[in-house]
Amino acid sequence: STQDYYDLIADATGSIRDRVPAHLASPKVLIICGSGLGGIASRIKGDAEVILQYETIPGFQKSTVAGHAGHLQFGLMGIDPNQDNLVPVICMVGRLHFYEGYSFQAATFPVRVATELGVETVIITNAAGGVNPRYVPGDLMIINDHINFPGLSGQHPLKGPNLEKFGPRFPATSDAYDLELRKALIHQAEAANLSRTIHEGVYAFVSGPTFESRAEVRMLRLMGADAVGMSSVPEVVVARHSGLKVLGLSLITNSGVSDPPTSAFIDDSQTPDSKGHASHEEVLLHAQEAAQDVETLVERLVGLL
Ligand code: HPA
Repeated sequence: STQDYYDLIADATGSIRDRVPAHLASPKVLIICGSGLGGIASRIKGDAEVILQYETIPGFQKSTVAGHAGHLQFGLMGIDPNQDNLVPVICMVGRLHFYEGYSFQAATFPVRVATELGVETVIITNAAGGVNPRYVPGDLMIINDHINFPGLSGQHPLKGPNLEKFGPRFPATSDAYDLELRKALIHQAEAANLSRTIHEGVYAFVSGPTFESRAEVRMLRLMGADAVGMSSVPEVVVARHSGLKVLGLSLITNSGVSDPPTSAFIDDSQTPDSKGHASHEEVLLHAQEAAQDVETLVERLVGLL
């Protein structure tokens, strides 16, 4: 019931407040680390950090995916050399996905808890497949809009009784991705002299765990998607339900395969090899290669908040 869910959120926040020192227990920013991007948490400064394993927090599920640890890391982040203006953050190192078998309510529970702890801004990162033909692995994409496929077809994180304490029954998502944060990220990429290509575009959320078929990639392209992935939108929706500011950043780790398959009616030797296929190994490899730039961007952005 709704009351049970409220109680579970209260249990989780209580458990956190019991174990995290006061100056870290009211974080301003939640950072959700995407596949292979857990290194963002390494930008937490100094020794004043606290790590809580998910399985020790009421209501938190375990992360079951390679490239995803499973803990919250509390600490201070920013780029102030005097460390006077550092910002208290929580890093979610390892996120929970719908395809792991978790309900959206379970997968977005950490966002509810962060909201209860007073977080005002959520930085959401992910690894994504390129759908826009101009995107190549290693590029970044600032998310400026999304397509919530499971949501449109009835699998929605806000389905069920509305959590009135958190937000309205019918929240808007037309303004989900904060313009000022997006501008600030571009500015920080320039200030940090990053050479990596940064796009701005539409993220299509699909449930996974299969990578898309060729026809599905072409369909997504026709529908206006620039990148595709299996996460983030549920967390964005739940954060926006409570009016939190959201910045979404995708690391393009692979190009969606979109050429039609070789026809069985023609001689294979006459046609070029069909392009390869996506794999989790490829995703993690490119994530690793670009991780430092993502870490730098997030760290600099947090410093402004
Ligand atoms: N499709 C869906 N999710 C992904 C992909 C992809 O190609 N790459 C990384 N996450």
